[in-house]
Amino acid sequence: MSGSTLFEQILDPANRANPYPLYAEMRKVPVARQEDGTYVVSTHADLARLISDPRISSDDLPDPQKFRWTGHPVTDLLVRPVRAEIRKRHRPFIFRDPPDHDRLRGQVMRCFTPERVRGMRTKTQRITDDLIGKMRGKTRIDLVDDFSYPLPVTVICELLGVPPEDEAQFHGWATQLATALEPNQRGDEETQAKNEVCFNEIADYLQGLIKEKRKDPQEDILSDLANDRDGMNDFDLVATAVLLLVAGHETTVNLITNGMLTLLRFPEHGERLRAEPEIAPRLIEELLRYEPPVHYRTRLALADIPVAGITIPKDAPVIFLLAAANRDPTRFPDPDRFDPDRTDNRHLGFGGGLHYCVGAPLARIEAEVALVSLVRRLKGLTLVEDPPPYRPGASLRGPRHLPLALEGVA
Ligand code: HEM
Repeated sequence: MSGSTLFEQILDPANRANPYPLYAEMRKVPVARQEDGTYVVSTHADLARLISDPRISSDDLPDPQKFRWTGHPVTDLLVRPVRAEIRKRHRPFIFRDPPDHDRLRGQVMRCFTPERVRGMRTKTQRITDDLIGKMRGKTRIDLVDDFSYPLPVTVICELLGVPPEDEAQFHGWATQLATALEPNQRGDEETQAKNEVCFNEIADYLQGLIKEKRKDPQEDILSDLANDRDGMNDFDLVATAVLLLVAGHETTVNLITNGMLTLLRFPEHGERLRAEPEIAPRLIEELLRYEPPVHYRTRLALADIPVAGITIPKDAPVIFLLAAANRDPTRFPDPDRFDPDRTDNRHLGFGGGLHYCVGAPLARIEAEVALVSLVRRLKGLTLVEDPPPYRPGASLRGPRHLPLALEGVA
């Protein structure tokens, strides 16, 4: 891609396996204006400041009148909404601003209690053990298809209260809808049409489930949300359930897969985790910095915002390059080194500000149970292909497959 800008090179799937040298180049201009008027923010200090700035909006249904949509690949990421007619009614709070965002998020946080999330550890361990048990007798596995992909969707189904017999259906929907969170795929007409069909199916299904949860509430999040006295309307309920499914799925898949890839690339860390599982929480924080599942998020400027010696003008699309900030040498000494003993590891792997990840405590538990169980139970694991094939997405970045050879299962 000669002649393309740095950010276009970052979007190019050819650079997916190792975007970090491009991020280092990007950080040389902390807030970089692109040809089409988009601004890319890549340094830790500037991002940490802007991510909590009320002049920055997460609303992704911008007024088309205000936009100079050039058809340029970067603006295209932001300006073409995902089927506007669906999103107007079913707008998940990740794409909303206060006060609606805070009201809807507050309702979810009331159900996402620490006890409920802690209670998911035992269930996650059971699901993990089942998936590892199925690897017995195999000498080759694909960690993504055999493990990382099914685990989070099963966990979220249990948490939401989706009956086990409907889980397979949910897996399929989760896979399709993940593209809606992926800015550089969602503009595509065919993807939009598929997402629409899929969204209608899942919305119908959830409406039915919500009715049942109102008649016969159970110990799950959907029952709590559906029976909350100051509750959400049904459109918001469906949008929230889909958001929990989509935001909690591919991200966690990528954390587990990137985690094993990193532990196999640096086997001394895999050995150490096997011998000292208590280091898992620190190791996972370092993974979230070093190989984060979410590389960038998109925003809009609501006002002229002076930052890093320039002014982001009102109505400009803004890209928060979280993964570049995580490797910023002015914030993290020796940033390209994977070091679970790092202290003061305030990474941006779960974002920051008002939209900080709701599922962070759950994701940490899932990753901990998964990685500790994998390194302890799978014997003689080796990478078959390095780098592995990646999914095309530049924002939710992770391997499509992770083929591994193994000698046995304990
Ligand atoms: C938001 C990362 C797992 C639910 C976010 C954001 C990031 C993120 C970076 C900020 C988005 C923004 O600022 O625009 C991750 C990673 C995960 C993970 C790396 C796994 C390793 C989960 C799980 C759930 C979840 C398991 C739920 C079950 C959400 C929700 C939001 C969010 C609902 C929107 C919060 C808001 O807008 O206020 N996540 N996430 N995430 N995440 Fe996660």
